[in-house]
Parts: sequence; C-alpha cells; structure tokens
Amino acid sequence: MKQSTFYSPSSSGLDLSELRAQFPILKRSMRGKRFSYLDNSATSLKPEMVIAAEQRYYTELSANIHRGVYEFSEQATVEYDQAREKLARFVGAGRNGSIIFTKGTTESVNLVAYGWARKFLGPGDELVTTEIEHHANLVPWQEACKATGASLRFIPVDPDGSLRLDELDEVITERTKLVAVTAMSNVTGYMPDLSRIIEAAHAQGALVLVDGAQYVSHHPVNVSSLDCDFLVFSGHKMCGPTGVGVLYAKNEILEQMDPLIYGGDMVTKVRRDQAVYKPLPDKFEGGTPNIAGVLALSAAVDFLSEIGMQRIAEHEHGLLEYMVERAELVDDLVSYGPTELGVRGGIFSFNYGDVHPHDAGALLDQEGVAVRTGFHCAQPLMRVFGVTGTVRASVYLYNTTDDIDALIDGLKRIKDVFG
Ligand SMILES: Cc1ncc(COP(=O)(O)O)c(C=O)c1O
Repeated sequence: MKQSTFYSPSSSGLDLSELRAQFPILKRSMRGKRFSYLDNSATSLKPEMVIAAEQRYYTELSANIHRGVYEFSEQATVEYDQAREKLARFVGAGRNGSIIFTKGTTESVNLVAYGWARKFLGPGDELVTTEIEHHANLVPWQEACKATGASLRFIPVDPDGSLRLDELDEVITERTKLVAVTAMSNVTGYMPDLSRIIEAAHAQGALVLVDGAQYVSHHPVNVSSLDCDFLVFSGHKMCGPTGVGVLYAKNEILEQMDPLIYGGDMVTKVRRDQAVYKPLPDKFEGGTPNIAGVLALSAAVDFLSEIGMQRIAEHEHGLLEYMVERAELVDDLVSYGPTELGVRGGIFSFNYGDVHPHDAGALLDQEGVAVRTGFHCAQPLMRVFGVTGTVRASVYLYNTTDDIDALIDGLKRIKDVFG
C-alpha cells in the first residue's frame, strides 16, 4: 500500500473554520449528516457578504441604471460601473479590453458565436475546438458552422483526456479563424497549456476564446499576459450569484462584432427603420441587466481577492492530492484524467466497481455528501473514456479533508450495499 502524505490545510495559510463560518449553508446538515459539498464545479456556495450585497441592492437602491436622474439611480449606476472596473482588474484586463456582463458562460459563448462567428466565418474557414469541452463551448460552434459553411476541427485528445498539443500545427492552419478551448476541464480538472495554444493560433492569424468557467474561480488570471482574445466565465461558480457572467474581449474585436440582444439601453438614436448603437460596452448589454447580480458578483470578487487566488489554488491542489491518495487505497475505483496532478485543478471524476454513477451519488447523498453524477455536459469526453457517466467530486476554498474523508467513507458503505 502506498503511504499517503496527507495534506494539511493549515499549510496553505487558510483559516478554514473562520472561512467556513462565512458560508451560511455550511451550518446546515444534509440527511442528518455533516454537509460535505463536493459539487463546486456545478456551482459554488455563497458567502454572507455576497448574499448581503444582493439584498442591499433591493433594500437600499432598487433603481434602474443609466436612466434615472435621481440619487438612487445614479448611485446604482456608479456601483454597476465600478463592478465592471473591478472585474476588469480581477482578470487583468488593460485598456484594450472590455468586460461585458451576460447571464453566464453559456450566453457569453453564444454572444461570440452570433456576434462574431456568424458574421465573419464562411465556407473554407475552420473553427478549432476539443473533445474535452463542456457542451456550452461546443454546441454554439456546431451551429455557427452549420449557419456559415465553416468546418469544425478538433485538437486530438489522449485516452486520459489531455490534449495532444504536439499535433497543434496539423490542426491549426491558415484556414483556422477561431480556436475555442477550455482553461480547465469540468470533468477531469485538466488544464491545457493555453499559452502554447494561443501562440499557435495567433501565428496563423486565428483568434482564441478561452472558456474560463472552471478556471477563473480557482486560479489567478491575467488576460493581458495570456493574450487571449475572449475569456468567458460565470459568477455563480466563483461565490457569486446565479444569472450573471462575463465576456471579456479585446476592444478591436468587440468594435466589429454585432450585439446578441437588441432593444433599449444599447442605442443612442432610433428612427423608424434603423438605430445607432452605443459605444462599448453598452452596445452588448441591451435591456435591464441583472443589476443586483452584478453588484453581488462584485462583492464575490472582493471576497476572493481578499483571500488571494494563489492561496485558493494551492489549497485546492492540496485537497486534490489528498483525494487522489485516499482514492488509490479504495479497491475497484477507476478515475479519469491525467495522472500528472500538476496539470489538474480540484476535480476528481471516477467510477466505482460496476455501481452506476447515479446509484453511487444517491448513496453518497445519504451520507451527507453532495457530488455530481452523469455526463457533466461533456458527452464527447465520455466517449473518449468509453463510459456514459462518472461520479464527480470537485472542491473549493471552503472544503476540508473531512469532506473527502466523508466521500471515501461513503464509498466504503456503498461497497457494503452492493457487495
Ligand atoms: C467548463 C464549463 N464551461 C461552461 C459551462 C457553462 O456555464 P453556465 O451554465 O454557468 O453558463 C460550465 C458549467 O458547468 C463549465 O463547467
């Protein structure tokens, strides 16, 4: 048996009991047991200050932005604009890029698929993506290709779900117009070498969209040094509320793109037959936005920044190592993803003997352990692994080794049930 090194959270410098106390839902039990939340890839828990920021908007401002001439509306507008600046700083956007608020990653990808791909792609053009993408970063491109006559190509994938980047030059060619790739797989936590992909794409004059839905909430990001053209992510996976997300893009590209949503608040002049659109970023934010959500997302950014993204990443890496070490001691457990943990974030997907993932998830629920089961909106990757689904345990800053112990103990109980 391999001797486990067993991670100690104190080595990351996080005060976990103080941190956990800020998440009201962690005071609840589930099925009468200690609540072990290991479904962070689906959505994160929310700290008190984020919940309070959302509520404060309704209790203290409750006014629309950009329209009112009265104090509360002006105040809401100022805070909304400050949130945009905060998000820009959080991802390292300089003056050449903009933050557009959307409903989430899915809408952000669609904004690019409609506003850029459908406008600029045509027959003979190629759009490159991968089989490890979440459906949100695949289906919009399939549709854009159908609509424009462009073709979809894939960076080859190894059986462990990592990308074969040494074959990049064969896939990314002068025909490539866009490369759409995840920064971190929502199934295995695998983090491809983005700089290498971006360099190969830019060498051919192609743009790069990075799906940061899983990455931005767990690691420091700097879009300026990364030099990606688009970055998309969701507020609800980073301690923020549901229904708000971000598209970051370079201004020169946004200037050429069409909006996805047309209507009020995105125009300067409207006549019977035509309209003039506002400059960036307003042109892309037609209608009343999720003001409360944006202000709460801004609070989430404060919360995460105060702790420090690097510390969060280190803590989660420790938890991943701990989970892998403990899982190695469990018979009949098959896990997916590269064995080299340095290229992985805190996600662990597995199957347990011939127990169906849903059955495993339901039995873990009885033990107070929340995991995700199924194909995780990543069916092409399931085909690579030759399975229809997995159990997925994913960690965040408030998780402890106790959560992982509960998972492993829960698996032992499953063995008792299924024999
Ligand atoms: C990698 C990845 N991309 C995109 C999405 C879609 O995010 P949303 O549902 O917030 O739009 C998810 C959600 O799980 C994801 O994990």
